[in-house]
Amino acid sequence: MRILIDCDPGVDDAIALLLALASPELEVLAVTTVAGNVPAERTFENGRRVVALAGRPEVPVHRGCEGPLLGPVLRGKYSGEGGLGGSLLPESAAPVAAGHSVDVLIAHLLAAAEAGAPITVCTLGPLTNLAVALAREPGIVRGMDRIVAMAGAFAAGGNRTPSAEFNVLADAHAAEMVLRCGVPVVLAPLDLTFQALATPARVADLRARGGRITSLAADLITFYDRNDPARYGEPGGPLHDPTVIAYLLRPELFGGRPAHVAVELTGQHSFGQTVGDFFGTTGKPHNATVLNRLDAPGFFDLLWERLTRS
Ligand code: BDR
Ligand code: CA
Repeated sequence: MRILIDCDPGVDDAIALLLALASPELEVLAVTTVAGNVPAERTFENGRRVVALAGRPEVPVHRGCEGPLLGPVLRGKYSGEGGLGGSLLPESAAPVAAGHSVDVLIAHLLAAAEAGAPITVCTLGPLTNLAVALAREPGIVRGMDRIVAMAGAFAAGGNRTPSAEFNVLADAHAAEMVLRCGVPVVLAPLDLTFQALATPARVADLRARGGRITSLAADLITFYDRNDPARYGEPGGPLHDPTVIAYLLRPELFGGRPAHVAVELTGQHSFGQTVGDFFGTTGKPHNATVLNRLDAPGFFDLLWERLTRS
């Protein structure tokens, strides 16, 4: 499966990249970074370092949009000042890849459209790069078979406002553009990702497996622990972004429902909320599958097994 990964590393983005790059089923054509958890300069540098850590320096990493289409700049709260929990991964020795993330998305997607071989775009951060690419070259829709996005919150409620999830809130207009573009979207919202809880017992299991990068990965995940058992039911932090990659690899671990999803762009208290019409109330056609169920033991088995391979 040929994929593009658009991301804002970020600890959970980093774990998602490590999962993708350790998975032979996936051909990662490029990693395009965007401002989000930390500024664009830092997500780019983190992306380069994570790809080097994965032992895949040939995968190009690109620098992307510096901020949202409209509205204030938001940063992540849980990945530490530098975005990777304060940990200093070694610098990448790979040459800096030429090309802005938006240009790279356009080039790959136009080529895929021309070849009649559409590819999957995975988004793990604010959707700015993809929205700008859609505005510049609407024809890229023919180069995508689907968009799988960690984005949104439904019954679970939000993580940055009572109703909004970070990746949508950080560029709500971009998220709405992507949902409207006509390509089928699979959403991995907080309703799903809160089930991907890296509990202390699960992290201990990762450490016990050995492997070149497992102890570093376990340290990153431990730093990321949001320790909010009142919300999650147990100690440990949710690993949001790796669910997107796991969905590509093992869709049978997931359950979901089709819906028409729109982003609230005017609400005084609900700006950035994803509003799902699951029952045809509006008569609007489905534009998304909203994932809401995870086989968590199966997910962690897959994730730990692949990280151990790295
Ligand atoms: C999302 O926000 C970011 O902080 C994480 O990397 C994830 O993509 C969760 O709301
Ligand atoms: Ca992210």
